[in-house]
Amino acid sequence: MLNIAVLVSGGGTNLQAILDAEARGEIPGGKVTLVVASKPGVFALERAKNAGVPGIVVRRKDYESSEDFDAALLKELHDHQIDLVVLAGFLSVLGPSVIAAYPMRILNIHPSLIPSFCGPGYYGLRVHEEALKRGVKVTGATVHFVNEECDGGPILLQKAVEVLPGDTPEVLQKRVMEQAEWKLLPRAIAMVCNNEV
Ligand code: GAR
Repeated sequence: MLNIAVLVSGGGTNLQAILDAEARGEIPGGKVTLVVASKPGVFALERAKNAGVPGIVVRRKDYESSEDFDAALLKELHDHQIDLVVLAGFLSVLGPSVIAAYPMRILNIHPSLIPSFCGPGYYGLRVHEEALKRGVKVTGATVHFVNEECDGGPILLQKAVEVLPGDTPEVLQKRVMEQAEWKLLPRAIAMVCNNEV
């Protein structure tokens, strides 16, 4: 059974999808045992609390350097005996020491079909704004392993989602979440926990 930490920065709808999938028995090889937020007060921490999962805050600006932040985060992950790290809308960048400690054991969800609309600065609504600006007819979501390159690690799962006439970034974001992200991320976690990758 793998201990899973989910790292969040916002509303935590992907965290909720993971917790719900776990409750339905769809992640038999793993259990969410820690939620780490990049700042206090985010709704994702409420979701953790409601599910009875410990939630903590590790905030970049509380540390003098990114190395100190990485060391603090790594200590929490080790103290909680975490085997698998899931980035579910986590805004802070993970440094090399964290990435090296969890090779092929950090998953990220990105709200586009990588390699489109990804890389530094492509986060949340901005991704959908750029997709609409470019006029793509299909977008989607990607779950990939995290390595040193931003959004550049090996791809595990992708799902396409149609862009419809009149879409706003908000409407498109919701469709991508509902049709792709909330299904893809729990499935990817189950695959890693079952040794299917
Ligand atoms: C999700 O759409 C996720 O794909 C995106 O942030 C949102 C978090 O929402 N992640 C990125 O853009 C990473 N580059 P949530 O807090 O409701 O899960």
